[in-house]
Amino acid sequence: MADSVQWTDKLSIWITGAGSGIGAALARQLIAEGHFVIISGRTRAPLLTIQQSAPKRVRVLDCDVGDDRSMAASGELLGEVTDQLDLVIACAGTCEYDDGLTLDSASYRRVFDTNFFGVVNTLRVALPLLASSRAPVFVAVGSLSSLVGFPRAEAYGASKAAVDYFLQSVRADTSLVPLRTVLVRPGFIDTPLTRANDFEMPFLMNPEQAARRILRGLEKKKSIIDFPRRLSWPLRLLRCCSPVWFRLIAPRLTRIRHLRRG
Ligand SMILES: NC(=O)c1ccc[n+]([C@@H]2O[C@H](COP(=O)([O-])OP(=O)(O)OC[C@H]3O[C@@H](n4cnc5c(N)ncnc54)[C@H](OP(=O)(O)O)[C@@H]3O)[C@@H](O)[C@H]2O)c1
Repeated sequence: MADSVQWTDKLSIWITGAGSGIGAALARQLIAEGHFVIISGRTRAPLLTIQQSAPKRVRVLDCDVGDDRSMAASGELLGEVTDQLDLVIACAGTCEYDDGLTLDSASYRRVFDTNFFGVVNTLRVALPLLASSRAPVFVAVGSLSSLVGFPRAEAYGASKAAVDYFLQSVRADTSLVPLRTVLVRPGFIDTPLTRANDFEMPFLMNPEQAARRILRGLEKKKSIIDFPRRLSWPLRLLRCCSPVWFRLIAPRLTRIRHLRRG
């Protein structure tokens, strides 16, 4: 973990998007390690189920990360539950594909509300409590999809690229203070988010494997945690050789054969 706090210390942790998928797997692993964990999502039932494993060390805080009012209320409730946060993981996320390049701004706004403004809101609410920690860590979950332009992922990929830039900027702004920011960029993980995907997902991992990779990266004090390497390295390479991506690979992936008229 960060400078003076050891991973073996018992930490005070807040995880958003903890009701399913990667967030739930992270919550379960961190609870099993004996930490005090606050778990958030919009749906209470799965959070209550996770809480049952350690009712005294787990608190449920239901909130909508994209909703300013919900998050303001969460800030107050957080302050009643703990006086410090050592680790915050902004994991809540959603995905809507833009089929047929409709450029439907309502869809883009929904995606950005959760994936981008959700991260901004989470940091804003958590910051005063992170400031009370000796070595606070703020983690946001982006996506390897932001490395190159994937067809249909205009809204999702852009929201994750925005998170990437946001974190870099926060990192620059906090370079004189002890706040560590970490960007997690997973590849394909088998969760409710990806179950509707109707395309092949290479190197699909399960949420437990993803959570282990994230926690290992945090222990190693990485500022970017990309996985699996089998996917992240080729994508990084393709980002550098964009003509290969756009001339050879993208034409095989896109479903658009002509532009809409009128
Ligand atoms: N699965 C992948 O292949 C993959 C790859 C790269 C990145 N990621 C990212 O990993 C993160 C976790 O996703 P996942 O795959 O684990 O999917 P998931 O199982 O669907 O988890 C997303 C969680 O976020 C919560 N959530 C969604 N919108 C919310 C909102 N407005 N406010 C609060 N909570 C909200 C959902 O719970 P409620 O609906 O109850 O609120 C859900 O528990 C996301 O940021 C996703 O973009 C996933």
